[in-house]
Amino acid sequence: MEKKLNKLIEDMLSRLDGISNLNDLNLLKAEYLGKKSVFNDLMQELKEVPKEEKPRFGQMINEAKNRISDFLEEKKTALEKQLVANKLKDESIDVTLPGRKMNQGSKHLISQVIEEVEDIFLGLGYTVKEGPEVESDLYNFEMLNLPKDHPARDMQDSLYISEERLLRTHTSPVQVRSLLENTNQEPLKIICPGKVYRKDDDDQTHSHQFTQIEALVVDGKASLADLKGTLLFIAKKLFGDEREIRLRPSFFPFTEPSVEVDVSCYKCGGAGCSMCGNTGWIEILGAGMVNNNVLSAAGYDPEKFQGFALGMGVERIAILKYGIDDIRAFYTNDLRFNKQFRGK
Ligand code: PHE
Repeated sequence: MEKKLNKLIEDMLSRLDGISNLNDLNLLKAEYLGKKSVFNDLMQELKEVPKEEKPRFGQMINEAKNRISDFLEEKKTALEKQLVANKLKDESIDVTLPGRKMNQGSKHLISQVIEEVEDIFLGLGYTVKEGPEVESDLYNFEMLNLPKDHPARDMQDSLYISEERLLRTHTSPVQVRSLLENTNQEPLKIICPGKVYRKDDDDQTHSHQFTQIEALVVDGKASLADLKGTLLFIAKKLFGDEREIRLRPSFFPFTEPSVEVDVSCYKCGGAGCSMCGNTGWIEILGAGMVNNNVLSAAGYDPEKFQGFALGMGVERIAILKYGIDDIRAFYTNDLRFNKQFRGK
């Protein structure tokens, strides 16, 4: 019996050696200590043992059982420890690894130029206004001295939504809105940046959607000389202190007289180069004295009020300032383009 028990323990130990997970260990445990284990057979054998020998053998069997149980328990603890150790190793964090770089957004070049222009005008005491992009024919055209059959409507190919509504073709309707809102007819000095829309085929120099900044001053005395001074100030701020401006007669129904404004070429200083088409001048915006008809339509007496307005294309300013050769670059959002103007 003793031999048998020793052999049993030996076998068990050698099998225990080969076990590497808790599942197999449980199976082994069931085999040796479960209901149908070898010890059951031994208990049967115990019945045949002479009465006086029974206690000794019984004790031997119990001892063997306890030893096996201890060995199994020991192995279990070891396996559990191993499990925790493995987990710690697998999930360990290498604090010396460099962090992942987050892509940080930045302001679009158009927004940057808008802010730059806004800053210039805010410094001159203007306030910034907004207007809707879906506009009425009345404000976009009619009250700007452009009646329905006016040939100058062809200057701006419009995108109509209904008979009376369209996507604004310029920011000038904000002139009308500001005049009407100013019910006390206080002196007015506003700018309005915003998107405008034209029925244009997109190409290198045309876009069906672009950005304008409108400026309007109306009071009792704002003159062409004031407009000229304002334009010169803005041109210098945007393109450099040495710049000069030149006004050429032009036509807009809502201004009289109207002018086209050129800035002296910042590349050649006015001598003539490819940038300015050898003229020394670059066209930057349109402007003029507010037409009396616009004042009257908004309920302002042209005998008492006068003022000036200007409208500039933001894309045009950005193209000139940063040497961009395709207007589509502003809205195709190629990151390689956008990233060049990060934090300007
Ligand atoms: N609204 C004109 C345009 O889009 C620009 C402009 C504004 C001209 C104000 C004169 C005065 O072409």
